[in-house]
Amino acid sequence: MSEPVRFLTAFAQSIATMALYGPQHPARNRAVDGAYRVLRDLQAHDGKPEFSFLGDEVVYGSLPLREMRDWEWAARLAAAGVQRLEFAADASRDEFEEFLEGVVARLTVSMIDTAELRPGGSRPSGAIRFGALGIRGEGRLAPLVPAAPVASGPRSYELTEEVATIEWMHEQVSERAYVPLLEAESVVRSLAVAMHGDQEMLLPLLTLREFDEYTTTHSLNVSVLTMALAEAMGMGPRDVRAFGVAGLLHDLGKTRIPLEILNKPGKLTDEERAVMQSHTVEGARIIITSDRELDLAAAVAFEHHIMLNGGGYPHRQIERKCHCASALVHVCDVYDALRTHRPYRAAWEPAAVLTYIEDGAGSDFDPDIARVFVDLMRRMEGRIEHAALADLRAGVQAAAVAASP
Ligand SMILES: [Fe+2]
Ligand SMILES: [Fe+2]
Repeated sequence: MSEPVRFLTAFAQSIATMALYGPQHPARNRAVDGAYRVLRDLQAHDGKPEFSFLGDEVVYGSLPLREMRDWEWAARLAAAGVQRLEFAADASRDEFEEFLEGVVARLTVSMIDTAELRPGGSRPSGAIRFGALGIRGEGRLAPLVPAAPVASGPRSYELTEEVATIEWMHEQVSERAYVPLLEAESVVRSLAVAMHGDQEMLLPLLTLREFDEYTTTHSLNVSVLTMALAEAMGMGPRDVRAFGVAGLLHDLGKTRIPLEILNKPGKLTDEERAVMQSHTVEGARIIITSDRELDLAAAVAFEHHIMLNGGGYPHRQIERKCHCASALVHVCDVYDALRTHRPYRAAWEPAAVLTYIEDGAGSDFDPDIARVFVDLMRRMEGRIEHAALADLRAGVQAAAVAASP
């Protein structure tokens, strides 16, 4: 990977991580340090690197970066008024962090509780400048308008980067039984941006085309739905994203289930069902041994098939109330599973799924959560963006470049 591409990749990852964590969090500092190091490497050859984001094209100096064509962050940055980035040779680590904060604030104005927009994005005399491009050809930075950080009008996202990262994450889990936390959080951050890129919330969901893609599409959809539901329940951005991570990882244990059971088209035998159901315990175990910070995600992996009345699985010696994140993920999990076409049954219509959830309120589902979810999904009708994973394959190559650390 060339140095400018390495830098943009690290830049996007640090934006995603910063949006997720508070100022003193070690993960955030790690991401900023990493990106700053890559910037310094780049500056060893080019003291004053400049990038432009022009629709689907990324230009480094005057050189279009072919590998970054269709890089989704380019469209997101441009839409947030960041069409140009310029670095002075002496940009310090602190200036770099301040600059990243400015970009994050513009990208995620509706999702960040603590960030404040700085007028003009960056100080004109600062070592790092960003902004909208001036008159074409002049390469001059036009002043930014802080009141309008995000372009209005509907936009659609292809989710190629998110899909590639989820697939890579699942590979890591099946090969090494290890959950890459930063990447999981980056995916959630980026989904949250896709949901809030517009004036009104969108639900960017994937439609399943090929059965073996189920784990990827399902993880992404449950993450998006859980974040939307958590937000509808009045939770703050930090909780919303933590719930999004839990949604993304809820079925992680399935990466350890033999494929002949996982993808079996017919009914499972009792023995096979027991193996299948072990994905809850197995997932919780992998998550908690990977990272202590993921204890919420581990609880959700363990509890997401437990019903309000104590039914479901896994079997517990002592019954206690599930975490509310598990109850949220449980509803979203059932919704996405029923909405998906399976080899042994067709996908249910949205209205039928919502009726099913209403009917299960009080026994299977927590009644408050079920009510908010059903209201939300009825309200969201028409603002659900469906993409098919199979259609995204062509873009995955480019996304894999952007997603790899
Ligand atoms: Fe599950
Ligand atoms: Fe699930």
